[in-house]
Amino acid sequence: MDRYAVFGNPVAHSLSPRIHARFAELMGEAIEYAAILAPADGFAQRAREFFASGGRGANVTLPFKVEAYAFAATRSDRATLAGAANCLHERDEGLFADNTDGAGIVTDLQANLGVQLRGANVLVVGAGGAARGVIAPLLAASPQRLVIANRTEATARSLASRFGALGRVDGVSLGDIPLERFDLVINATSTSTRGEPLRLPAHAIARGALAYDMAYGAAAAGFLESARSAGASASDGLGMLVEQAAESYALWRGRRPPTAPVLAELRAA
Ligand code: ATR
Repeated sequence: MDRYAVFGNPVAHSLSPRIHARFAELMGEAIEYAAILAPADGFAQRAREFFASGGRGANVTLPFKVEAYAFAATRSDRATLAGAANCLHERDEGLFADNTDGAGIVTDLQANLGVQLRGANVLVVGAGGAARGVIAPLLAASPQRLVIANRTEATARSLASRFGALGRVDGVSLGDIPLERFDLVINATSTSTRGEPLRLPAHAIARGALAYDMAYGAAAAGFLESARSAGASASDGLGMLVEQAAESYALWRGRRPPTAPVLAELRAA
């Protein structure tokens, strides 16, 4: 049986084993997919053991995405743009690193949530690893403008200049978010994962906008609730998680599994 795994620390909470098991069932394929807890300084060793013993592919979650990128022999363009990998694939020519997070959020926004990204005014809050993984795929969907707002302004500016060739993108501090109407506001900070509130100027999330948190479930609840009370609609990142998983599955096995039933089952649970 082909073996896959997700590496993380912590990893016990990960929904990836459940998602991939359902994908395999729906595709009529037999795979094994495990959650592997790697010590903070032991990702490379665990990953080497896994692939040396026949592992076919892996997902990588926090805090190992940058290390996974460096660990691989070859890399996709989108992983290189992100400087991080969430997906590894054993190939004849060596271990290949990809980043399916950006495709995951874009598919969730456009296909599941009906967001028209082309021509949209988009605000991404946060400029760390999570933000870096989604900027290029968002710009590829041709928004009118993308603003990156971050607590530390210099990081927002440097991220904006890194991606400036791909579209209109500006980096500002949280206090300098332009007085414009944003169609989509993405929380890419690490606040939700730590249960901290994200404080934004009141105009940033307006009536009619979609507020999207890259975290999911209870972690995202505070951000989504404050967005709804400002008259915006709101979504957590569960759909992004399922879509990045489908993109990973397709990379490993050449066939893309259906995501709608899996997302519906997770929401119901
Ligand atoms: P991740 O990999 O989850 O993106 P990260 O690379 O450590 O984690 O980045 C965390 C992001 O959340 C950063 O943009 C950080 O802002 P700074 O660059 O100023 O550190 C942002 N962040 C974390 N805590 C925050 C808070 N309380 N309010 C606003 N932004 C916060």
